[in-house]
Amino acid sequence: MHDMSDRKVRIAAVGLGNRTCKYLSYVSEHRDMAEVVALVDPDASRMHGLRAGFSLSEDRCFSSLDDLVASGLELDACIIGTPDIFHHELTLQALHNGWHVLLEKPMGQTESQCRDIVQASIETGKIVTVCYVLRYHPYFNKLKQLSEDPKMGRILSVRHIERVGRDRTAHTFVRGPWNMKEMNTTVFFTKCCHDVDFVLWLTGDDVDSVKSYMGERIFTEGNAPEQAAKRCIDCEIERKCPYSAVDLYLRRKDWIKGFTCQPGETQEEMLTRMLKDSRYGRCVYDCPENDVIDRQSMILELKSGIRAEIIMECGTDEKDRMTVIECENATISGDESYIDITYRNPSENPERHDFLWTRKQDFHAGADLIIVKEFIDSIREGHLRTRTPAQTSLSSHILCFQAEN
Ligand SMILES: NC(=O)c1ccc[n+]([C@@H]2O[C@H](COP(=O)([O-])OP(=O)(O)OC[C@H]3O[C@@H](n4cnc5c(N)ncnc54)[C@H](O)[C@@H]3O)[C@@H](O)[C@H]2O)c1
Repeated sequence: MHDMSDRKVRIAAVGLGNRTCKYLSYVSEHRDMAEVVALVDPDASRMHGLRAGFSLSEDRCFSSLDDLVASGLELDACIIGTPDIFHHELTLQALHNGWHVLLEKPMGQTESQCRDIVQASIETGKIVTVCYVLRYHPYFNKLKQLSEDPKMGRILSVRHIERVGRDRTAHTFVRGPWNMKEMNTTVFFTKCCHDVDFVLWLTGDDVDSVKSYMGERIFTEGNAPEQAAKRCIDCEIERKCPYSAVDLYLRRKDWIKGFTCQPGETQEEMLTRMLKDSRYGRCVYDCPENDVIDRQSMILELKSGIRAEIIMECGTDEKDRMTVIECENATISGDESYIDITYRNPSENPERHDFLWTRKQDFHAGADLIIVKEFIDSIREGHLRTRTPAQTSLSSHILCFQAEN
């Protein structure tokens, strides 16, 4: 890679949704290092604020990556934050145009797609940074640092639980577009590929064998309470149901960012219409196309003898990850709020590390910004500084695909 520390990294943002906007915040604050030179999204309404924020003219806004390529505009890198199904195609296109890529996870939807990206990154000599935020997050870094402390002794086992909260489960994986395996990948892959990566990073070990267990699905017709109606808005037991769409959208006004009012419609009217007519108003036990597994666990036997279990549980109250690391001399356990250490030696006092502060911080407690910083620094310095290049991130993707079989 060339050293280009004397000039700004020219970036195109592709897919201007929630994630890309987080990454662009870093660019916005570091205009001496990088500049946004183009925006790409088929939905023009996503451009407005960003266009003004980065002072871009109309001819720097494109509805597809094809159009950007055809324009001949020169740039160094792009940020790809589109829905998963486009990651593979757009990344290959960007790499073959000679651009580095900051790519949202997952890289691709099949093993061969992920391998293609790694191969193309090697062949073109361009970086692909996969946005596996846990490796950049202060809480997860502390877990790693503690587990490496010689005082703990070696790691014996890891138990890591991804608790997918009720609201996310109902909205995204049961009623929403992520509820069909054929259209997407599995919930485990979507939610846990970076948990698998975290465990591999934590243990620093290679995998000897992988086993996966899929639990019985919860959100099926057979599990519906007797009095349940097809739609929550017509349901007499809706107030007692933890998955009530009326409660989620109408009373709590949660997860409604993607719903839009029609001309002249109030928000209440729009939400009532969504409850009556859209996929989001349905009883969670009556979404017949939903075929995704909502409980899965993976057991990894690592070469050094460590056993690691990664569990995904949908529909839970809590929505944080829990990790228990059993070491020779201590147990380290964390729930994203605290890390507790108890020592086998009774004369050693237990320790607690407070991470409640990270909850008050946006950008995954700053992790999103560090990802972009390392990506830009790597390009400017011509030296790979990113922690999550595609080459490293490949193993966790492959393990998740293996877990599906
Ligand atoms: N790293 C993480 O912690 C994390 C968290 C959430 C989501 N994600 C991943 O981030 C990605 C984006 O998620 P999001 O919540 O920001 O989505 P979003 O729906 O908010 O934004 C996606 C944007 O992509 C645009 N788009 C669709 N097709 C496109 C195309 N062909 N070319 C250009 N733009 C296109 C859409 O119009 C939309 O503006 C997904 O892959 C998701 O899995 C990662």
